[in-house]
Amino acid sequence: MTTRINPSILAADFANLERELGRIDTADLVHVDVMDNHFVPNLTFGLHMVRRLHEVSPIPLDVHLMIDDPDRWGPAYAEAGAQSVTFHAEAAGEPVALARRLRALGARAGIALKPGTDDAPYIDLLPEFDQVLVMTVEPGFGGQAFIPETMPKLARLADVIHEAGLDVWLEVDGGITEETIGIAAAAGADTFVAGSHVFNGEVPADRIAALRAAASA
Ligand code: DX5
Ligand code: ZN
Repeated sequence: MTTRINPSILAADFANLERELGRIDTADLVHVDVMDNHFVPNLTFGLHMVRRLHEVSPIPLDVHLMIDDPDRWGPAYAEAGAQSVTFHAEAAGEPVALARRLRALGARAGIALKPGTDDAPYIDLLPEFDQVLVMTVEPGFGGQAFIPETMPKLARLADVIHEAGLDVWLEVDGGITEETIGIAAAAGADTFVAGSHVFNGEVPADRIAALRAAASA
């Protein structure tokens, strides 16, 4: 099975982002957490940052929009060069129309589910998406503890994706460490976001390698 490790630059040194990208050159994608201080109680960066990151990053960008009204803003992130644009289910007015727009612009379309968000209403929509992001913490901040109660939802989604033969990546985000990554992998995740665990390491690339090994152990 393919394992993707996507470090989140939320935990990187914001004053030296280009240099930080050089320390994670074994990553599959770079996870970019966009927060608007409305959908989540925290503020990070937006479109201009994603445009510049795309210009300097040899690694494709996995943009995670924690914002209100992704219907309005999401397509611009695809135009800015993001490989994937993931928005939160309850933030979108028309999730399917938005996913189609993102795909038409050449991006992978992703839908994100908070720990308390029921997956049932989205099961039939899975063919419209390229990835599902199961939040394993409440969105808004890095460095929180993994919530194991999210695993039954992940396993359910993995079953549906597998049984229907869909090409949909199953991504987890929040509290991923060398301990928790195995739990998420066993439940069916194939794509792993890790912020603090990667960037708090003296050599982030070593942490990426260790996560990769732990995911397939
Ligand atoms: C949280 C963000 C995560 C965050 C993960 O809202 O979506 O991507 O950066 O950070 P860690 O790995 O430290 O939990
Ligand atoms: Zn994220």
